[in-house]
Amino acid sequence: MDVIARRDMLTSVADDLRIAGMTRPAPVAFTFDGATLRAPEGESLAAALIACGIRRLGEGLDPARPRAALCMMGVCQQCLLRVDGRLAQACLVAVRAGMVVTPA
Ligand code: FES
Repeated sequence: MDVIARRDMLTSVADDLRIAGMTRPAPVAFTFDGATLRAPEGESLAAALIACGIRRLGEGLDPARPRAALCMMGVCQQCLLRVDGRLAQACLVAVRAGMVVTPA
């Protein structure tokens, strides 16, 4: 999927994948690959991206098999991203206002 098509997908999906009716901190804005997203502060970055409809976190060795969050507990390394310029596992990083996230 090209970048523009992916960004269109990012902006068309809202918080609707989260469990309804739960009390959460106020959403804050951050960017992923240039697209502005919103998620509750403190939510795991991997969970926030999934809830926003983002599954593809980067390219794998085989382009037909992109990387996506798998274990959600810091073991598999498949969620590796750059967060404010530093490599980080998205499942171990909490969403903060203004964070800049890019594929690794
Ligand atoms: S999803 Fe496996 S290390 Fe983050």
